[in-house]
Amino acid sequence: MNNILFICLGNICRSPLAEGFLQYHVNQRKLEGSFNIDSAGTGNWHIGKPPDRRAIRAAAEYGVDISKLRARQITPKDMDSFALVIAMDRNNLSDLQLLRNNTNAGCQIELLSESSLEPGFIDVPDPWYGDYKDFQSVARQIDSACCSLLEKLIQDD
Ligand code: 4NP
Repeated sequence: MNNILFICLGNICRSPLAEGFLQYHVNQRKLEGSFNIDSAGTGNWHIGKPPDRRAIRAAAEYGVDISKLRARQITPKDMDSFALVIAMDRNNLSDLQLLRNNTNAGCQIELLSESSLEPGFIDVPDPWYGDYKDFQSVARQIDSACCSLLEKLIQDD
């Protein structure tokens, strides 16, 4: 089983997009039985809320429905339950490293961009203060990285 947790700050823009896109590609390949995919935020401001409506709309352009997802905050237990924890940006990554140091959990932590072939891509920029075009750009970047991530995970299995 591939246990994968995507992390951003609020869990209402970037990480729900990553969860939705990876799940979509997994479903397309009929690999649902081999993947457990979730997302969470390092912050607690939006717990229980659906994704930002601009993220919902950007995902819908790809035929992906993320409207039923609800935001939650990462817990120390997540660092044990998920083998692979994927951060959207370097701020999320350093928060995760601190959390793991406090729990001694054995999960692997990496940046989403490590799975991407896109030159110069390090952080998925936070689109929260941007406009809809920023959400479209982030959605495209995340979708492409999730495709590459899935290829990598299938090869490693
Ligand atoms: P996300 O975007 O981390 O991609 O979900 C954000 C959403 C909300 C806030 C920051 C980032 N906020 O400050 O409330």
